[in-house]
Amino acid sequence: MRNIVILISGRGSNMQAIVNAAQKEQWPCRIAAVISSRADADGLVYAASLQIPVVVIPSKDYSSRESFDAALLAAIDLHAPDLVVLAGFMRILTPSFVDHYQGRMINIHPSLLPSFPGLATHRQALAAGVKVHGATVHFVTADLDHGPIIAQAMVDVQQDDTEQSLSERVLEKEHLLYPQVVRWFVDGRLSLRDGQVLLATELTGTA
Ligand code: GRF
Repeated sequence: MRNIVILISGRGSNMQAIVNAAQKEQWPCRIAAVISSRADADGLVYAASLQIPVVVIPSKDYSSRESFDAALLAAIDLHAPDLVVLAGFMRILTPSFVDHYQGRMINIHPSLLPSFPGLATHRQALAAGVKVHGATVHFVTADLDHGPIIAQAMVDVQQDDTEQSLSERVLEKEHLLYPQVVRWFVDGRLSLRDGQVLLATELTGTA
């Protein structure tokens, strides 16, 4: 049974999508905790309503990145996680924190990386005039939004798209993509070796 810890900072809709898929499809895993960097993160209410242990490590209470990351690491490791899932977790993490979870921490970013790292990705996509946009799930490395890419989902950009309409369509894709990737990990199909993503082919059972 694999332990998963999910980190959020706000709405938590990707966390919900993962939790719901895990329940519905009865993944062999435990969502051991949902940890938020903000006490007012909406996602906490949903997680708590499902009796998932919720923890708040308020980033505003820490004077340095190092001290926050140390507290966060201690809170995460209490749950002996096999996988740490960043789901709208709005913090830049220190290299030593990232190293600690090498090969077992993933993130979703709302663009087709390596295009548009950072914030306001939908605005960046519209300004650049790209015809396709989307979301990326990647292993986390110390280089922000640049870790090895595991999977991507695309949307076509329409002529009349606004930041809002584009973000809604991308978010729908995120809610399918992220649970899929976590499931691969839970099933033991996904790993990181020497900086390369390895995804084993699905085993098709024969009688
Ligand atoms: C998502 O668009 C995700 O790609 C990005 O932050 C947003 C979080 O949304 N990292 P939610 O909190 O999962 O609803």
